[in-house]
Amino acid sequence: MPNMTVTVDGKKIEVPLGSTILEACTAAGSRVPTLCHDNKLHPFGACRICLVEVEGTPRKFTPSCTTPATDNMVVKTTSPGLIEARRMVLELLLIKHPLDCPVCDKAGECSLQDLVHEYGLGPSRFDAEKGYLPPDYESAIIERNISRCILCGKCVRICDEQNAVGEWAFTRRGTRARISTDFDRPLDCEFCGECVEICPVGALTTRQFKYKARSWNLEGTASVCNYCGCGCGVSYETREGRIMRVGPARSNYLCTKGRFGWDAVHHAERLTTPKMRVNGELVDCTWDEALSIIATNLKVIKSRHGAEKIGGLGSVRTTNEDSYVFQKFLRTVVETNNIDTLARLKTPKGLNTTFFSGELNKMASHEVILVLDKNVGEINPLTGIEIVRAVNKKDRKLILVNEEFNKFNKIATVVLPTSTVNALEDLVKALSSGAGSEEAKRAAAMLKAAKNVAIIVPAQLSNNEFPLIRDLAGKLTEVTYYPLVRRSNFQGSLDMGVMPSYYPGYRKIDEASTADFAGLWNAVLPETTGMNAVEMIKAITPGKLAALYIMGDDPAGSDPGLKGILQKLEFLVVQDIFLTETAKLAHVVLPAASSTEKSGTFTNLERRLQQVNKAEEPIGESRPDWEIIQDIARKMGGSMKYGSTRDILAEIRSVVPAYKDLALGACWSREKSPLAGMADDLSLTSDSIMKQEVITAERLLFSSGMTITRSHEIRTIRHYKIEV
Ligand code: SF4
Ligand code: SF4
Ligand code: SF4
Ligand code: FES
Repeated sequence: MPNMTVTVDGKKIEVPLGSTILEACTAAGSRVPTLCHDNKLHPFGACRICLVEVEGTPRKFTPSCTTPATDNMVVKTTSPGLIEARRMVLELLLIKHPLDCPVCDKAGECSLQDLVHEYGLGPSRFDAEKGYLPPDYESAIIERNISRCILCGKCVRICDEQNAVGEWAFTRRGTRARISTDFDRPLDCEFCGECVEICPVGALTTRQFKYKARSWNLEGTASVCNYCGCGCGVSYETREGRIMRVGPARSNYLCTKGRFGWDAVHHAERLTTPKMRVNGELVDCTWDEALSIIATNLKVIKSRHGAEKIGGLGSVRTTNEDSYVFQKFLRTVVETNNIDTLARLKTPKGLNTTFFSGELNKMASHEVILVLDKNVGEINPLTGIEIVRAVNKKDRKLILVNEEFNKFNKIATVVLPTSTVNALEDLVKALSSGAGSEEAKRAAAMLKAAKNVAIIVPAQLSNNEFPLIRDLAGKLTEVTYYPLVRRSNFQGSLDMGVMPSYYPGYRKIDEASTADFAGLWNAVLPETTGMNAVEMIKAITPGKLAALYIMGDDPAGSDPGLKGILQKLEFLVVQDIFLTETAKLAHVVLPAASSTEKSGTFTNLERRLQQVNKAEEPIGESRPDWEIIQDIARKMGGSMKYGSTRDILAEIRSVVPAYKDLALGACWSREKSPLAGMADDLSLTSDSIMKQEVITAERLLFSSGMTITRSHEIRTIRHYKIEV
């Protein structure tokens, strides 16, 4: 794009043609105050605080956020006249403002408060009545204190432009204008809290944080959300070592689960002490008792039945370090390859091989986005947001397959109102022969003309859909896939080798790799591959599996039919944060630290290595998963000696080539992929185990997962929605 020259406060700079004056000022390093402006949103020009002086214009003061800069423009961002004008804007904004800063949760981080302080306003020259409007406490999670609203319209725009929900609107006129929902009803939306986050004043606040702390008492810890495969960056804000609220970090967005669902880790049902079964009842015991019982029982079962009758089910919510230590313990100490995660049952076929994911923040680089799963915004909310941003900010075209109606219909260029498999067949036909419905022909023409296309791959694919997507992609110029992945560290658990046929780094188990890993780990390794998760479950009833160690999963909670099967085990150990349905069946239950209480790394659906940081101390006697497993390994004669997760990550880097030089925050690339050309499918299928997703409410966003269902805040939304 050609540039133009602008002089700001005497500094000559080049900015791209089409820049606003505000952008030019920012590029020149001159600060201009704003209230209604945000880079994420279209300029609006509501508040007038961003006035600047433009030389040679009849109207001397100009709002910089909405006015385009022109070549050779000369701008001043500060002068006595400008300061007076901005003071006047603030004075007008304060006419009706309640000035209840002492009880406003925004105090300390309120843009209006900051500007009034900066511009040193004295007593008001206006004596208009404050026009107090009662706060609105009717909505779940979010409170609206309309008297504090400065009508900047940020909430209206973010909900519409970024979320495509459009819950807020301006209603009434003149001095009675306000933001409101349709007919002033309580909120009925995604409850993402983005409007609260962006509100420059205390007009929108959350009930979760109400009167919990003043902003200046909070300390931030950057970490990663543990609720879905997007792995949004979060900042846990703590006071006296306890989380008070969560805000966005790297991804500049949080959905309702990431922003409000963290409170599940403070739930009263958290496991706080180890438990062992005595006379049929689970009773509290010491760590030493619990670990000794586990070590003894696993040793006895191994010597009586063989290591092949012991198995382990890992988790897709624990860190890479936890998963790595878990599989290493089973392989080197128990000496079995019976290692897997049940999450592989809920994975799209071809996730890691065919449907290698693009980076989410590059969604807008594709001319056309084809969405094959209408639940994209609920399964992976950040993926949904990047699609909306691409369409609304960059004018990308959206082709949506949706038999029903949801927010994506509002922004789609073409909607194919049919099933995914039918839509794929229609598109392939239209691309091959030009035949088909009008919608399919329009969509096919858009796909064909596009230089690059993004395909959003459903969270679960049927056997028919899988080859059809590949056929379709084969007819297009360039395709990037964005598979939907429900669980947070699914990618990491695969990378760490929590699979029966692969060592860490996708080294297929064979003679050569076994010799290599035996050397690396200085251990004797089992010679054969192990049973996968489905095979392990099926092996329990005929007595081919006697002991199972489950770390961070709840098969009996997901599929109640598994209860009777798990009860047949000679020995069951469950390590988790709650006394889950599976834990209730165990012989020993170990309390694990949650993701807010430990450090380590996750690898999200983009294959981005992310740093998880401890924000609060583990509750009760709970401990990080890897530490627990290391202690059991030692009790069984193993020689693990990790001092911290840094030691474990260093070892991971030495055995997993894709992680060798992978910087924190970076994704491992297709070029470095150990999966390139791999024929194996890493997903599992079962006709009998965990066939259905357990959903506890009508919307996936508020219902999927064993942890989120224990969040008080998310339950509030569900109860509220059920009652109305
Ligand atoms: S919480 Fe989210 S979806 Fe609801 S109104 Fe605010 S921005 Fe919109
Ligand atoms: S509620 Fe907040 S974000 Fe919305 S218009 Fe009012 S001040 Fe702006
Ligand atoms: S989109 Fe996923 S990772 Fe991001 S905040 Fe929501 S649940 Fe967490
Ligand atoms: S920031 Fe420019 S008008 Fe509000």
